[in-house]
Amino acid sequence: MYKTLLTSLDHGIFTATINRPDKLNALNREVMQDLNELISEIETNPEIKAVIITGAGKKAFVAGADISEFLGLTSSEGIHLAKTGQNLFFKFENCQKPIVAAVNGYALGAGCELAMACHFRIASDNAKFGQPEVNLGLIPGYGGTQRLVQLVGKGRAMELLMTGNSIDASIALEYGLVNHVVPLDDLLLKAKMILDIIISKAPLAISRCIAAANAVFESGNGYNIELKSFAECFDTEDMKEGANAFLEKRKAKFKGK
Ligand code: COA
Repeated sequence: MYKTLLTSLDHGIFTATINRPDKLNALNREVMQDLNELISEIETNPEIKAVIITGAGKKAFVAGADISEFLGLTSSEGIHLAKTGQNLFFKFENCQKPIVAAVNGYALGAGCELAMACHFRIASDNAKFGQPEVNLGLIPGYGGTQRLVQLVGKGRAMELLMTGNSIDASIALEYGLVNHVVPLDDLLLKAKMILDIIISKAPLAISRCIAAANAVFESGNGYNIELKSFAECFDTEDMKEGANAFLEKRKAKFKGK
């Protein structure tokens, strides 16, 4: 069914594992398509009561969007890319069934954005979070500029967005980006223990908790500004330099052009 996801269902808890460990589970077009299908399956399969999203291997949850797919994109293709990502992550955020991110390593760029679109996050003690897009002459385009501010506050979000620095699990816990930090071997167990409690409650009440809590942040304009700004980056020399530098494993030289 899925090309890039492993799935299993155990007593109503559905675990979806993004499975490109050789590329640190980076989100390429195929993974994005599979995640779209995953959301449809979650919404329509009555056997699924709650969901855990995690990454394959011991190193990464998701190390970002696949940078190799950025090269050669125009700004209008950038708009399309960001719209696809934003729309997919809105589906996660607004899913009527609880979705927990079990972050088992790097959650960078689109990986951090995916984790933030889930209803809450549990991290292993080796997890690292960040929005390193500025290293590529880019900004987050899948809702990261908005949800990071919502979750950690404006000052911390501004610093993380502008430095591109990543934070480890203990700082993420202090910032409120994650709810719990546990050893890697206990990560899925911890997620399941919490979801077992949630799925013992009334499902319609759970869906309404999700909708009401999400409504605190309704406005939408910031997402449009993010979309436009992300796309404009694709017309810059700096973005091409940033993506090439990553793929050539060297430091980027930015010119402000
Ligand atoms: N897109 C595409 N490929 C990626 C990727 C991404 N976001 N992140 C990692 N990879 C690939 C690497 O290119 C490498 O592939 P290769 O073995 O074919 O050369 C492989 O995954 C392993 O990554 P590597 O960089 O060798 O691992 P590392 O342990 O030295 O570094 C990171 C780990 C996460 C620090 C580093 O991979 C990284 O900085 N990734 C990009 C993070 C990022 O900028 N994300 C935002 C994108 S918008």
